[in-house]
Amino acid sequence: MLKENILTQVSHSKTPFYYYDLNLLQTTLETVVAESSKHNYHVHYAFKANTNPQIIKLISKSGLGADCVSGNEVKCAVENGFEPSKIVFAGVGKSDDEINYALDKNIFCFNCESMQELEVINELASQQNKIASIALRINPNVDAHTHKYITTGLEENKFGINPYEFEEVIVKLKNLEYLKLIGLHFHIGSQITDLAPFKKLCLKVNEINQFFLNKGFDLPIINVGGGIGINYHEPDRDNLIDFASYFKVFHDFMELRKNQELHFELGRAIVAQCGNLISKVLYIKNGINTNFAILDAGMTELIRPALYQAFHKIENISSSSNSIIKYDVVGPICESSDCFGKAVELPETHRGDIIVIRSAGAYGEVMASRYNLRDEVRSYFSE
Ligand code: LLP
Repeated sequence: MLKENILTQVSHSKTPFYYYDLNLLQTTLETVVAESSKHNYHVHYAFKANTNPQIIKLISKSGLGADCVSGNEVKCAVENGFEPSKIVFAGVGKSDDEINYALDKNIFCFNCESMQELEVINELASQQNKIASIALRINPNVDAHTHKYITTGLEENKFGINPYEFEEVIVKLKNLEYLKLIGLHFHIGSQITDLAPFKKLCLKVNEINQFFLNKGFDLPIINVGGGIGINYHEPDRDNLIDFASYFKVFHDFMELRKNQELHFELGRAIVAQCGNLISKVLYIKNGINTNFAILDAGMTELIRPALYQAFHKIENISSSSNSIIKYDVVGPICESSDCFGKAVELPETHRGDIIVIRSAGAYGEVMASRYNLRDEVRSYFSE
């Protein structure tokens, strides 16, 4: 970690702020590109994980495609040099304006999530006199074994088209002449730290791929989404995920035909470890059973612990005390859920100490809010 750089930044910047290690991001990107190219796989960066302009610029240079879930994300991708021919657009609730914008930009593919959406895209494409390339986002009913709020591939989840709807979709597609079905899309969830669910996904995709072939659809694109998790507990040891093993699961278990390309949509694995939330201790409040370290950063800057009970490593980088004390590390927001960690062991901590909350590069800054009329938070970068 870039302790010295962070301390220097703190000496002339207002806390809290996000601090990104662009060298680590660059190394991560080079690894993703190298490992995916070994199999000729195509990786789209999932914009939802982080849309900080500096981060996006670097990712754009790496040549990855973009996975977007709103019209503004598509716009951000286009404006930052992502080739429209590498932009995919998912989301259960695409508005007409968003669809029209994406049609206008000739994006690679709409990942369609419902039967009604197929009709709407067909209608809007006909008005532009264009053929929209689409993939069916399929809900494969594969359990990702992750937090229920970030599980997406079960029938109870709102995402995707269910296998029992396939026959109806096929009949419907015959009459939707402004749509071209080019692929099948899946995404079972996020922060999946065990590779077994991906193997299950491959086996399910093989069945569905064969089903569509039998129905006369020889589809060139299979997109398996993202979801590979990172190590929040040991960000220094595992600052890169094992991309080789991840891609190998698909290489070993996915039965692709010669004309088929495999696509991925990775967010967290690319940006999580390069970001940190930097904060100052405002107050220490010692209780009978619980000591609190109250920070100037809160759930408004990183909502993951409050929303998903997510673990983030917390470090005091300015204390040199040898005595280790347990603190509930909390923010200033008027919610009891505004807690970054309970009974966190830290060196004895004082007002003014600098606290780093690690692995905040994915779903940190993008999920920030102005709740309690908080100031907007700036970001800085390692050179
Ligand atoms: N593709 C689709 C269709 C998705 O819905 C997502 C994430 C991804 C790709 C990228 O997944 P990743 O590789 O980043 O796991 N805010 C939550 C995560 C929400 C993920 C939503 N979808 C969190 O902080 O854990």
